[in-house]
Amino acid sequence: DVTLSPEPSLTFRTIGGILDFYVFLGPTPENVIQQYTEAIGRPHLPPYWSLGYQLSRWGYPSIDVVKQTVNRMEQYGIPHDVQYADIDYMENKLDFTYDKDNYAGLPEYIQELKKDGLHYIIILDPFLSKDQSRGTYQPYELGQHFGLWVNNSDGVTAAVGKALPPGESVYPDFLNPRTADWWTYMCAKFHGVLPYDGIWIDMNEPSNFLNGQYPACAHNNLNYPPYIPRISDSSLFHSTLCPDSSTYLGKHYDTHSLFGWAEAPPTFRAVQEATGKRPFVLSRSTFVGNGKYAAHWLGDNHALWEDMHLSIIGILEFNLFGIPQVGADICGFYFDTSFELCLRWTQLGAFYPLARNHNALGQKEQDPGVFGIEFATIARTVLQIRYSLLPYLYTLFFEAHAFGNTVARGLMHEFTDDPETHGIDTAFLWGSALMIAPVLQEGARSVDVYFPDATWFDYYTGDKVPASSHNKYISVHAPLEKIPLFIRGGYILPTQTPATRTAKSRLNPFGLIVALDEKGEASGSLFWDDGESVGDGTTRGPFTLHSYSPMIPL
Ligand code: NOJ
Repeated sequence: DVTLSPEPSLTFRTIGGILDFYVFLGPTPENVIQQYTEAIGRPHLPPYWSLGYQLSRWGYPSIDVVKQTVNRMEQYGIPHDVQYADIDYMENKLDFTYDKDNYAGLPEYIQELKKDGLHYIIILDPFLSKDQSRGTYQPYELGQHFGLWVNNSDGVTAAVGKALPPGESVYPDFLNPRTADWWTYMCAKFHGVLPYDGIWIDMNEPSNFLNGQYPACAHNNLNYPPYIPRISDSSLFHSTLCPDSSTYLGKHYDTHSLFGWAEAPPTFRAVQEATGKRPFVLSRSTFVGNGKYAAHWLGDNHALWEDMHLSIIGILEFNLFGIPQVGADICGFYFDTSFELCLRWTQLGAFYPLARNHNALGQKEQDPGVFGIEFATIARTVLQIRYSLLPYLYTLFFEAHAFGNTVARGLMHEFTDDPETHGIDTAFLWGSALMIAPVLQEGARSVDVYFPDATWFDYYTGDKVPASSHNKYISVHAPLEKIPLFIRGGYILPTQTPATRTAKSRLNPFGLIVALDEKGEASGSLFWDDGESVGDGTTRGPFTLHSYSPMIPL
């Protein structure tokens, strides 16, 4: 149980074990993250297309509704690179199947989307139904044959819980290398059925609809330890497996937090093997080092203004954790969203490193095409801004991958000496050079923006923010159609004319935004490659890295 207090101090309460402490000395916050990710593994370079706009929901009842949604995006010319399939596509919520009635023709449809430059990502859950008729569900039977599940405390019989699929379920023990091989094999084989481009791994805490597995968690020191940190229901097995369950590397008590962590690498490998391209994996559960294999979304939020605000904190945190490709469910997951909230969230989400609109079963549709022309026009405009800045964003991801920099960055990383920046969670930066100051309140048509001491230019007009506004909060006009954005003097940002797909925008002319500082200087860089080739460092395909500085002395 770890408590942070403003002293500043950290209190660790522990009931045993060995604690290894690593201290990263910085000196700057950005240096700390560079050093931390050097130790835990640097984030992987995402495929370029995954930086495009992503659309998802739980509750597309049929492939026809997916088609209508995709067509609406097309009709309004709204940038769209990724379409998701939540568990609706499965037959009876069973991994490695698809619903041949409601989703008849899905494989062919995925091919069609691909031809149109879109990418398709499917969800997989980490529980396998053990109650299908014998001989009909190979994924379970293979795993059962090889003994690949998390076991009960006896270390022999499978732990049986209840999750989404019909009947009861077992849980793959991803810490077991044989389980990892089986999973990679199943995922790669399934690509022959549904030619997906990436995999979304969900529920991997692991989640269980029971508190512990059947018949119940025994009364012992692992299931009922002498001290319980402040967690849901004050129970270590609330909605998961009993801590005394056995995994390949030890008791679930010790390995619980590594379930999702261990699922990511074999999924990454599977996507790479299956597609032959740079993998994209999106994971709900993550742990130290997962940025090497997975992107992350912040889980099930609500369509509330407060949740939109909190998402900025989550996004900045995951950038500190070395998992920079992160976003929250744009427009909110639970609850019906509203026109204004969804619009403001689309504007903010256009600047999440991972820009994905996602919605829960039973909620009203909230894709950017469903609200009519006014919404669609505003969404298109802000997503076009994102797409025009993708060369800059991709370069930031390269810098995260190569040097461990953050992508979305708190103002305090750049202006550490200014204590006012330390508490700012209503605005953030892309790298050093772009400040995003979203509208976070219903009905608001202005935002109070803090301008640390630097040269700032309004992104839309190029007007310089007067020096008299520095080190102060200034009210900035933000009508419904606008999210305030500012470019910092001293920087050069590579851009590209936007299109509705990155496959197309990548072929468009490049540009540079050159924002001079008070000395008349600026610099910047561009990392560029094919956006999808596989490998690390120099084994990856050809790339180019440009550094810019203005040649005209002023
Ligand atoms: C829980 C996930 O957090 C959510 O995003 C998803 O839609 C549902 N599971 C259904 O798969």
